[in-house]
Amino acid sequence: MNQEINFGQRGVSERGVNEINFHAGPPETEPERQYYFMEKCREWVRAFEEENGRRPYFFTQTFGCQMNARDSEKLSGILKAVGYQEAQTEQADFVIYNTCTVRENANNKVYGRLGRLHHLKKKNPKMHIALCGCMMQEPDVVQKLQDSYRFVDLIFGTHNLYRFAELLARMYGASQTVVEVWQGTDEIVEDLPAERKFPFKSGVNIMFGCNNFCSYCIVPYVRGRERSRAPKEILGEIKKLASDGVVEIMLLGQNVNSYGNTLLNDKITFAKLLEEAAKIDGIERIRFMTSHPKDLSDALIETMKSSPKICRHLHLPLQSGSSRILQQMNRHYDKEGYLALVDRVRDAMPDIALTTDLIVGFPGETEEDFLETMYVVEKVGFDSAFTFIYSKRTGTPAAKMAGQVPQEVVKSRFDRLLARVQEIAAQKAQRLTGSVQQVLVESVNSHDPSFVTGRLSNNSIVHLPGTPALIGKFVQVRLETCKGFYYYGTIYGNTV
Ligand code: SAH
Ligand code: SF4
Ligand code: F3S
Repeated sequence: MNQEINFGQRGVSERGVNEINFHAGPPETEPERQYYFMEKCREWVRAFEEENGRRPYFFTQTFGCQMNARDSEKLSGILKAVGYQEAQTEQADFVIYNTCTVRENANNKVYGRLGRLHHLKKKNPKMHIALCGCMMQEPDVVQKLQDSYRFVDLIFGTHNLYRFAELLARMYGASQTVVEVWQGTDEIVEDLPAERKFPFKSGVNIMFGCNNFCSYCIVPYVRGRERSRAPKEILGEIKKLASDGVVEIMLLGQNVNSYGNTLLNDKITFAKLLEEAAKIDGIERIRFMTSHPKDLSDALIETMKSSPKICRHLHLPLQSGSSRILQQMNRHYDKEGYLALVDRVRDAMPDIALTTDLIVGFPGETEEDFLETMYVVEKVGFDSAFTFIYSKRTGTPAAKMAGQVPQEVVKSRFDRLLARVQEIAAQKAQRLTGSVQQVLVESVNSHDPSFVTGRLSNNSIVHLPGTPALIGKFVQVRLETCKGFYYYGTIYGNTV
């Protein structure tokens, strides 16, 4: 079968891919080099097809955050471009785990799942297994995999993900695990293929890495230094997405508020980037993740307020309500600063949903510190919050701090916090019951196929009677009942 290469985001032929001589050696420049290796992979896929009478299946499993989810779409994009088809289960010819290491339990999950994969590989020895993502940036993890998980065929990290096609070609010819993990990179390679899980919405990376070094967090070590994509690349990608029918985008970065700091030319701020994105026809909703409180500017609040396209939702991780702990965490704001920021945001947009991340059991956290967190949670009244138990990450400053809190104390604080967070979220959600709101329908309901599920601008979930024809459409919905974290509603008037 002869498939056309899908040139992905932006007709890479603009950048000379058509001039690649596929019979000579690999080009030195990117992304041309990867297109050369994609052609090599396609030859392998064709041979597989001749032998097996079908194209190979792949399956990707993503752990972790939105950034990882977007990376997985890039992997799928390349696999589809070289001729693979997507499987719904791990019973596939190629399984990739895109890993997360933000907390210890993220790592444990991967090891557990690998055990199961080993069984599948024993039944199908030609199966390929690849591991990539944040966990692979830790030398101890790679060592452990090489010692005890030798059935893994390919290991690569976060910095060289763009070299996936090249690594894949190497994997086909290798008799042992191919390992390529870089400690960092300055490079951002544009114009490689990417898949979209949803036809109507997409994540868009605006920056990579993180320079904040919150003392508990491993992300800066595994994702490297902060790098912003050029505004013209980002806006070009969004325009292309809009012309493909995408109506909602989520701008992605570990701290979107510091977007632009590392740009040498065309320096613009995050607020300005949002403003430009909002001008793009066809894009109706814009979200972003994640916003660090220390860098949230008044200009951003103004931009959000004046653009109806920017969703009425702000994820503003608090982490702790204790100024003493926040200082130990290296967060660069205190309790009062956070509360004042919330006031400014709410003054500008009274209807905005505020969500947050909270960590319980940071080293040295006392009952008083914990009560400060409870206080801020009460005071702000978050629409929802992710609550985490502090997880010690080797190599971070907090791992060496005195006063690690005993597990039973942490567990009890965690339970108290979670219960309160859930109560408040349920109360908050009630305020929209009975109102009519715009919903973007995203999927068929997983429990009842006569229902569909969508989201409000404020990110709340709504279930309503409807058919798959509504997916990707905006509808006006009356929110009939509130079930704590989600609503049941019915369509009101005509769809838009
Ligand atoms: N860049 C984002 C957060 C990315 S990690 C930000 O700063 O807002 C997502 C969340 O995981 C963090 O907000 C934090 O609450 C949590 N987290 C990070 N490291 C952790 C650790 N060692 N233990 C427990 N939770 C952690
Ligand atoms: Fe981690 Fe802090 Fe960077 Fe977020 S801002 S990724 S919590 S170091
Ligand atoms: Fe996890 Fe890496 Fe994201 S550690 S949270 S997948 S940046």
